[in-house]
Amino acid sequence: MDIVERYVPLRKAGANFSACCPFHSEKTPSFTVSPTKQFYHCFGCGEHGTAIGFVMQYSGIGFVEAVEELAGGLGMPIPRDDNSHHRQASERKAPLTELMAKAAKYYREQLKASAVAIDYFKSRGLSGEIAARFGLGYAPDGWQNIDSVFPDYKAPALLECGLVIENDQGRRYDRFRGRVMFPILDQRGNVIGFGGRVLGEGEPKYLNSPETPLFEKGRELYGLTQARQAIRDSDTVIVVEGYMDVVALAQHGIGNAVATLGTATTATHVQKLLRQASRVIFCFDGDRAGRKAAWRALEASLEPLADDKTVGFLFLPPEHDPDSFVRQVGEAEFRRLALQPTTLTEFLMRELKAEADLTNAEGRARLIHEAKPLLLRIGAPGVRLQLVKQLAEASAIAQAEVEGQCGLKPLGRRGAPPPPRSRQRPAPRPIDQALLEIVLQQPMWTTRLPLDLISAEQPHGAVLHAIANAIEHGELTSGSYHQLLEFFRGGPHEAVIAEMAGSLASADVDIGELEVVLNDALLRLRQTGIAREIDSLTAKARSAGLNQDERRQLTELLSRKRAGHGLV
Ligand code: UTP
Ligand code: MN
Repeated sequence: MDIVERYVPLRKAGANFSACCPFHSEKTPSFTVSPTKQFYHCFGCGEHGTAIGFVMQYSGIGFVEAVEELAGGLGMPIPRDDNSHHRQASERKAPLTELMAKAAKYYREQLKASAVAIDYFKSRGLSGEIAARFGLGYAPDGWQNIDSVFPDYKAPALLECGLVIENDQGRRYDRFRGRVMFPILDQRGNVIGFGGRVLGEGEPKYLNSPETPLFEKGRELYGLTQARQAIRDSDTVIVVEGYMDVVALAQHGIGNAVATLGTATTATHVQKLLRQASRVIFCFDGDRAGRKAAWRALEASLEPLADDKTVGFLFLPPEHDPDSFVRQVGEAEFRRLALQPTTLTEFLMRELKAEADLTNAEGRARLIHEAKPLLLRIGAPGVRLQLVKQLAEASAIAQAEVEGQCGLKPLGRRGAPPPPRSRQRPAPRPIDQALLEIVLQQPMWTTRLPLDLISAEQPHGAVLHAIANAIEHGELTSGSYHQLLEFFRGGPHEAVIAEMAGSLASADVDIGELEVVLNDALLRLRQTGIAREIDSLTAKARSAGLNQDERRQLTELLSRKRAGHGLV
């Protein structure tokens, strides 16, 4: 209960506590927490669960992070299976977080005291309320202003969190001077970095905190914490390029926007966002750079994509960015456009077609050639199939031929005979080994594995857990095999990976076949899981008997087993 209380103010109501539900908008509280049952439930929207579930749901973070968050709040360190790397990191972070919070407070106070800074924000159409919501601030001119904020301006931590810069002679000065400040928060609401904009003209226009132990740009998104409720309400998140875009959209009632931080969108970004909403809409500037950014966002979306999620693109007129658009054209028009974005498949086809001259055979061949590497990365089989169909039509060849050319499926009986296999078909291997082999070829697929069914005790299973962990923590951000090897170099899992990698290097990756192998292994895994549950329930039936729920569960399990599929 005190866990929930940390996020939502609770009022006592009989034996339970109540509040307005954080998961849907309401005026009268229908959200209850039972301290005796250690459980929360909302009678309005039906959300319910345990403490860990609450934190995951509320913060949109993964299981491991939620456990850490809870343990952290209770002053309990969490032992990590994967060396002490993470723990050390979080121990190092705490003092830095404190410094950042203090700096943010100082910049906020300075904003209140500075007429020029207030005027600047006003001139950009922002209200005091929005400035407060985003914790906007001002770093005044001067070289060592924050000397007055911190007892020790020489502390190594100030340098480490990027608030000061040290020159060759060891002299220190403030990083942010004469800039309006945008604090960047993590999902827990801690300040992890800043973006500072010059008032008016000047270079660089935005100065950002460097990468620090707290701040990893390829992983964080500006405005996510403030946008959480609006994202949940609309089941949509809008990704823009700039700090000002996020803040201006919020000013106009569009609260579900976040921004990448002066970097290209990464697969980790997309994965993080798709965990919180079914729809991700990229809305970049209408200029050339914006279109390029959109294409990179498309590429980053291919692996995290799933068939029950949509990724769309909203292209503004070239003279606009979201900030100027919502201010000049208006909120209603922005909303209207956001309801009908260009879909990922449309955008992808449009760009590929623009590159190839489809009036001749070479151009059509080129289309398939260009599409192949993209198709192979798409994590959503349904979307991939749709694309294959469109490619087939555009290139005037059969669907099976597109699949064959892209290595998605063998050509089938009527096509050319399958190429002779250079290797013998491997004998069935243990499931976790099979899964690892797949994942080494498609690291991002790790996110599709039911890790609770995979034991971390066995060497292959342990590696799978470690990879999942690394993805969860944004330490593996691309599907690149090279990055995977680099990440594990010198660690306890290196040997297992290297050994398997050797045998994979020679194999041709056929993604269609890989997908079949994956589904196969998942099936086997789930069936083993089902069999184990059936065993334990039957044992219990014999000894203690089963209650109604358990009986229903057993019937269900048996029917699933009989049907010969373990897929849920
Ligand atoms: P833009 O140049 O599009 O700026 O950069 P903007 O957001 O429209 O800014 P305003 O409206 O002029 O204030 C988009 C984003 O790229 C990063 C920042 O994150 C910025 O919000 N950027 C831009 C930098 O990090 N440094 C820069 O010098 C410029
Ligand atoms: Mn702008």
